[in-house]
Amino acid sequence: MRRLKIAHALPLIAGLVLVALAIAGSKLEPARAAPHINRDLAPMAQIDNSVCLDCHNKPDFTLTMSNGEILPLTISEGKFEQSIHGENEIACTDCHADFSGFPHAELKADSPREVAITYYTICEQCHAEQYNKVLDSVHQKALAGGDKNAAVCTDCHNPHEQGRLTDSATGNLLPTARAHIPQTCAQCHSGIYDSYKYSVHGAALAEEGNLDVPTCIDCHGVHNIQDPTTAQFRNETPLLCAKCHANEKLMQLYDLPTNILNTYVADFHGTTVTLFEQNSPDQPTNKPVCTDCHGVHNISKVDNPQTGIALKQNLLVKCQRCHPDATANFPDAWMSHYVASPDNFSLVYYVNLFYKFLIPGVLGGMGVFVVTDFVRRLIERRKGAAH
Ligand code: HEC
Ligand code: HEC
Ligand code: HEC
Ligand code: HEC
Ligand code: HEC
Ligand code: HEC
Ligand code: HEC
Ligand code: HEC
Ligand code: HEC
Repeated sequence: MRRLKIAHALPLIAGLVLVALAIAGSKLEPARAAPHINRDLAPMAQIDNSVCLDCHNKPDFTLTMSNGEILPLTISEGKFEQSIHGENEIACTDCHADFSGFPHAELKADSPREVAITYYTICEQCHAEQYNKVLDSVHQKALAGGDKNAAVCTDCHNPHEQGRLTDSATGNLLPTARAHIPQTCAQCHSGIYDSYKYSVHGAALAEEGNLDVPTCIDCHGVHNIQDPTTAQFRNETPLLCAKCHANEKLMQLYDLPTNILNTYVADFHGTTVTLFEQNSPDQPTNKPVCTDCHGVHNISKVDNPQTGIALKQNLLVKCQRCHPDATANFPDAWMSHYVASPDNFSLVYYVNLFYKFLIPGVLGGMGVFVVTDFVRRLIERRKGAAH
C-alpha cells in the first residue's frame, strides 16, 4: 500500500520536486543524463507489485501460445527486487501500463517472440537515448525487413533481472558487464563467438579476465551497430585496430610494437588503402587491410605454432587470395611491419640510406650550382655595366 500513501503526499512531493529542480538547475550537469521517468504514461492509481507477483512469482507458471510454444510467466520476486529496475522502485505497471489486475486484456501475440517484439517499445519511455540509437542499427533494419530474430532491447537486457551496467558516478562500463558482452551477442551469433573465444583477444578476456582486449562492441558499437561488410567499414579497419595497437601506454604492457600502423601505411598496400579511405570511402579497396592477413574474429598471436602468420606457409595462404600465382618465397619480397635496419632487410636499409644521402646530395649540389651561377652572372653583368 506504499503507493497509495505516496498519492496522499502528492502536493508535498510536488513542492519538494520544485525546490529540488531549482537547486539542480544551478548545479553542473551530472556525468550522464539519468533516464527520464515519465509517470504520466502510467495509470494514476499505481498497483502494488505484490498484486502481480501473487500469481507471477509462482514457479513454473507458463502459457502455451497459439503457435504451440511456451511463454514462461514466472517473474522471480527476489531477482526483480535486486535488478536495477527493482532497486529504482520501478513498478510492474510503470512498464506494463495497461495491466491493472486479472483478467488481462486479450493477448494479441501468437508466439513468445511476438510478445517481446510487442513490448520492447516500452523502453523508449525512460531510455529514449538508447532507443533512438537503435533505430539506425543493423538489428532494427533486419527487424523492419521481417527478420524477427534480430535483437531488440530485451534480448540483451532482461527487463526483470537486468543488473547495473555502468558506474553511476562516471558512466563508465563496469568490469563485470564488459566481460559478459560476448556472451550477450553469442545468444544469436554463436559461430562468431566460437572463433572469437579462441582468438588472442577473446582468450585473453575469457581466460584471464583481461579487459584491455576488444569485445564485440569495441569494433561494432552497441546500440547503433552498422553493417560491417560495407566498403567504408573495410577501408576504416586499420584505424579501428590502431585505436589500441598505436596506443603506446597500452601496447607497452604486452611488449607489442606501436609502429604497426605506420609501417602498414608506409607499405605499398597500406599507402593505397589510406588514400582510398580518404578519397573513395564507398568503394572497397582491393589491397589488404589488417584483417586480410590477421583474420577478423579468429586473430591469433603471430607466433602461434599452428595458426600464426609469422609462419611463412600460413602467411602465403593469405597472400594467395589476391596473388594467386605466389609461390613459397613470395612473402620474402615484403617487409611485413618491419622498419628496415642493418639487421632486418639490410639491403633495403642500405639502399634507403644511400638514397637518403644521394638525393639530398644531388638536390643540394644542384642548388649550390644554381646559386653560384646566378651570382656569377650578376657579377658579370655589373662588370659589363661598369664598362
Ligand atoms: C490471477 C493471476 C494473475 C494476476 C494477479 C496477474 N496476472 Fe499476469 N498473467 C496471468 C495469466 C494466467 C497470464 C497468461 C495470459 C492470460 O491468461 O491473459 C498472464 C500474462 C501476463 C503477461 C503476458 C503478456 C500478456 O499480454 O498477457 C504479462 C505482461 C502480465 N501477465 C503482467 C501482469 C501484471 C503487470 C500484473 C499486475 C498488474 C499481473 N500480470 C497480474 C495471471 C495473472
Ligand atoms: C522495465 C520494464 C518492465 C518492468 C519493470 C516489468 N516488466 Fe514485465 N516485461 C517487460 C517487457 C519489455 C516484456 C516483454 C517480454 C520480454 O522480452 O521479456 C515483459 C514481459 C513480461 C511477462 C511475460 C513473460 C515474459 O517474460 O516475457 C510477464 C508475465 C511480466 N512481464 C510480468 C511482470 C511483472 C509481474 C513485473 C513486476 C514484478 C514486471 N513484469 C515488471 C518489461 C517490464
Ligand atoms: C519507467 C522507467 C523505465 C522504463 C520503462 C525502463 N527503464 Fe531501464 N532503467 C530505469 C531507471 C530509473 C534505471 C536506473 C538508472 C540509473 O540508476 O542510472 C534503469 C536502468 C536500466 C539499465 C542499466 C543502466 C546502467 O547504466 O547500468 C538498463 C540496461 C535498462 N534500464 C534497460 C531497460 C530496458 C531494456 C527497458 C525496456 C524493457 C527499460 N530499461 C525500461 C527506468 C526505466
Ligand atoms: C545487441 C544487444 C543490445 C541491444 C539490442 C540493446 N542493448 Fe543496451 N546495451 C548493450 C550492451 C552490451 C551495453 C553495455 C555497453 C555500454 O554501456 O557501453 C548496453 C548498455 C545499455 C544501457 C546503459 C547505458 C549505456 O548507454 O551504456 C542502457 C540504459 C541500455 N543499454 C538500454 C537499452 C535499450 C532501451 C535498448 C533498446 C532500445 C537496448 N539497450 C538495446 C547491449 C544491447
Ligand atoms: C536476439 C538475437 C541477436 C543478438 C542477441 C545479437 N544479434 Fe546481431 N544480428 C541478429 C540478426 C537476426 C541479424 C541480421 C541477420 C544477419 O545478418 O545475421 C544480426 C546482424 C548483426 C550484424 C550485421 C551482420 C551483417 O552481415 O550485416 C552485426 C555486426 C551484429 N549483428 C552484431 C551483434 C553484436 C555485436 C551483438 C552483441 C552486442 C549482437 N549482434 C547481438 C541477431 C542478434
Ligand atoms: C577486433 C575487431 C572485432 C571484434 C572484437 C569483433 N568483430 Fe565482428 N567484425 C569485425 C570486422 C572487421 C568485420 C568485417 C569482416 C568482413 O569484412 O568480412 C566483422 C564482421 C562481423 C559480422 C558480419 C559478418 C559475418 O562474419 O557474419 C558479425 C555478425 C559480427 N562481426 C559479430 C561480432 C560478434 C558477435 C563479436 C563478438 C563475439 C565480434 N563481431 C567481435 C571486427 C570485429
Ligand atoms: C599483408 C599482410 C599484413 C597486413 C595488411 C597487416 N599485417 Fe600485421 N603482421 C603481418 C605479419 C606477417 C606479421 C608477423 C611479422 C613477423 O613477426 O614476421 C604481423 C605482425 C603483427 C603484429 C604483432 C607484432 C609483434 O611484434 O608481435 C601486430 C600487433 C599486427 N601485425 C597488427 C596489424 C595491424 C593493426 C594491421 C593494420 C593496421 C596489420 N597488422 C596489417 C602481416 C600483416
Ligand atoms: C580494444 C583494444 C584492441 C583493439 C581494438 C584491437 N586489439 Fe589486437 N590486441 C589488443 C591487446 C591488449 C592485445 C594483447 C593481448 C595479449 O597478448 O594478451 C592484442 C593482441 C593482438 C595480436 C597478437 C600479437 C602477438 O602477440 O602476436 C594481433 C595480431 C592483434 N591484436 C591484431 C589486431 C587487429 C588486426 C585488430 C583490428 C581488427 C585489433 N588487434 C584490434 C588490443 C586490441
Ligand atoms: C586483399 C588483396 C591482397 C592481399 C591479401 C595481398 N596483396 Fe599484395 N597487392 C595487392 C594489390 C592489389 C597489389 C597491387 C598490384 C598492382 O598494382 O599490380 C599488390 C602488390 C603487391 C606487391 C608489389 C609488387 C607487385 O606485384 O605489384 C607485393 C610485393 C605484394 N603485393 C606482396 C604481398 C604479400 C607478401 C602478401 C601476403 C603477406 C600480399 N601481398 C597480400 C593485393 C593484395
